Amino acid sequence: MKKSDWAHVDLKKVPKMVTAAPGPKSKSLHDRCTKYFKGLSGQVKLFPVAFESGHGCTLTDVDGNQYIDFSSGIYVTTLGHCHPKVSEAVAKHAGQLMNAHDFTTPIKTKLVEKLAEVLPGDLNGFQFYDCGTAAVEAGQRVLRAGTGRNEMISGFYDFHGKTYGAVSLAEIRSPVYGRVRAPGMHMVPRPNPYRPIWTKPDGTIDTDKYIEFYEEYIQRATVHDVAAFVLEPIQGWGGSVIPPDDFFPKLRKFCDDHKILLMADEVLTSWARTGKWLCCEHWGIVPDVVSIGKGFGNGFPVTAVAVREPFKESFEKISASSSYGGNPMACAAALASTEVIEQENLLERSTHLGELALKRMEKMKQTHKIVGDVRAKGCLMGIELVKDRKTKEPFDKAGELVYKKAFARGLAWIPAGHILRMSPPVIMEDEVLLKGLDMIDEAIGETAKELGY
Ligand SMILES: Cc1ncc(COP(=O)(O)O)c(C=O)c1O
Repeated sequence: MKKSDWAHVDLKKVPKMVTAAPGPKSKSLHDRCTKYFKGLSGQVKLFPVAFESGHGCTLTDVDGNQYIDFSSGIYVTTLGHCHPKVSEAVAKHAGQLMNAHDFTTPIKTKLVEKLAEVLPGDLNGFQFYDCGTAAVEAGQRVLRAGTGRNEMISGFYDFHGKTYGAVSLAEIRSPVYGRVRAPGMHMVPRPNPYRPIWTKPDGTIDTDKYIEFYEEYIQRATVHDVAAFVLEPIQGWGGSVIPPDDFFPKLRKFCDDHKILLMADEVLTSWARTGKWLCCEHWGIVPDVVSIGKGFGNGFPVTAVAVREPFKESFEKISASSSYGGNPMACAAALASTEVIEQENLLERSTHLGELALKRMEKMKQTHKIVGDVRAKGCLMGIELVKDRKTKEPFDKAGELVYKKAFARGLAWIPAGHILRMSPPVIMEDEVLLKGLDMIDEAIGETAKELGY
């Protein structure tokens, strides 16, 4: 397997903490910035460090502390920070043509031809946007235009973005979203192998029961105007929750049998994150509509909606274009990222890293009884912390402590309550991945001791 030079990290130099983090310069800059910049994520509130630069799999803060990156921004810089091929492509187009609305350009033409080549089945109609949420909303409009129907069904713990259409297919936790779901939007349970609702006599999850429930739900709880299921293939924010292998094939068949469309929100799971272009390829299914984002431009804000051949014309009915969608810099970033993934065999590399991580995390599960479950598909990984393995009670306090302790050691990563989430760049070397996991292991050990477990 070819290793990219870009990936190399000298473990003698990184991680390296020259101050206790967040250090004095981080604190002072953070105070200045947050006097005006409001609404920070929990991730930053828990560890308010200020970053200055990123290079491949490492990050440097303003105090000079160096971190191994297990977050890729937020599942975004899949090829590492500032990959030279992506940076050069953006810079070239920034000096040539920044915006031409949705007029045809040479770089956009190359990109759509490339996408039609790499994506499975007949996913060959595209439109571009500047964030994942906008792609999800456009996908919803395609679903309505393609079916003439209104209702949509998503799964418990799914996340699709923060505008009204997107948030209506997720948990609405806050009154600021208007207290009500958009009309016709539904949520149903989806299979989580660690926390199953329906099981077979042998205790394993029973996916047929979930599908049977959907049948009944559509009969009893909808107004029989269902356009589509809209689901994340693997739930990112839900905690790297990987469905059983037979779920999506069964759901695809269910949708076909009922003439309902299937949209996969692959904003987080696409472009090598799980070891495939689309996560759905793991199960051999082709969704009718797909939203693609995050790693698509490796940090440049570019996202896409891809649709199957029969729904291409639906784009004509939805007023599809936008101010920034498909601008030349965005197309250049997406094309460069796609070519790097191909040239450096990064789908395989992501798969390999996931397998390596899973083995190492299984050991953590043997060592620490607060580790309830570990999972990985490519470079999308999770560790679920529980107070008790029998009751599976979530251990949020432990999640917070482990996050902070590993960060203080020099691991930049993502917290989510009791589920530790990792999304390292897929270019990472084995030793670096294992070093990061050692740091997590140590942080779990210390935390368990501190909390008396
Ligand atoms: C599955 C999924 N869909 C949509 C979004 C929204 O993307 P963005 O934050 O780029 O608008 C996210 C963001 O995390 C996501 O994980």
